[in-house]
Amino acid sequence: MVELKTRRELALLREAGRVVAEALAEVRDRAEVGVTLAELGRVAAKVIDKAGATPAFLGYHPSWAPAPYPGVICASVNDAVVHGIPDHTRLAGGDLVSIDCGAFLRGWCGDAAVSFIVGEARQADIDLINATDAALARGISAAQAGRQLGDVGHAIGGPVRRAGYGLLADHGGHGVGRAMHEDPFVYNEGRPGHGYRLRPGLVLALEPMLIADGTDDYVTARDGWTLRTASGSRAAHSEHTIAITDDGPEILTAL
Ligand code: MF3
Ligand code: CO
Repeated sequence: MVELKTRRELALLREAGRVVAEALAEVRDRAEVGVTLAELGRVAAKVIDKAGATPAFLGYHPSWAPAPYPGVICASVNDAVVHGIPDHTRLAGGDLVSIDCGAFLRGWCGDAAVSFIVGEARQADIDLINATDAALARGISAAQAGRQLGDVGHAIGGPVRRAGYGLLADHGGHGVGRAMHEDPFVYNEGRPGHGYRLRPGLVLALEPMLIADGTDDYVTARDGWTLRTASGSRAAHSEHTIAITDDGPEILTAL
């Protein structure tokens, strides 16, 4: 069931979203060659804790996962698309890093992700991240009351496909509220004029996951969580939690 949020609830979601945005900004600031993914997880944990919030990912155990998620962030490097577990891997020059973070504040959730490069960047990686950020921005622009989820998916995925990039199979965005994952599921592709009609008070996480070589397939790592591209190609992921309002879409995971 899709739940619409009141103005008061949107204000609380905005507070939760800001904590996530702060955590991601701090992680990005601290990410450089030689830093471990576990250290980045501790950076996010500190920001979340200081804000009086609780990590949303730590201990999260959906039915499809073999074990509860062990991290505060997901840190997915190069051919890892999403759900990479922050371990003692050190960042190397030219790594394409995606950091995903979620937090609960006073019972409400924020969920967001950013991709960036540490050290010297390859042009292909810069292009991939720009395409991912642009896909997210188009999805947000399309998220207007009265439009439909198919319009959002079409806005996200159409240009992605035309540019020759892949989109991670079986994954997409979702509703956000008191739970991190609520209805509806948000496909990263769609048919204009189809699907659930957007209404003020609807809160969604939009999260394009692009694969550089145009393939969509993934393999699950032995840790049961990390999704890597089947082809070995690099991937990028950007995500915001947004609200549909009478005045248009509002990004809730913003500083
Ligand atoms: N943004 C990711 C998602 O919506 C968060 C994954 S949560 C984790 O799927 F706990 F699985 F890491
Ligand atoms: Co999400």
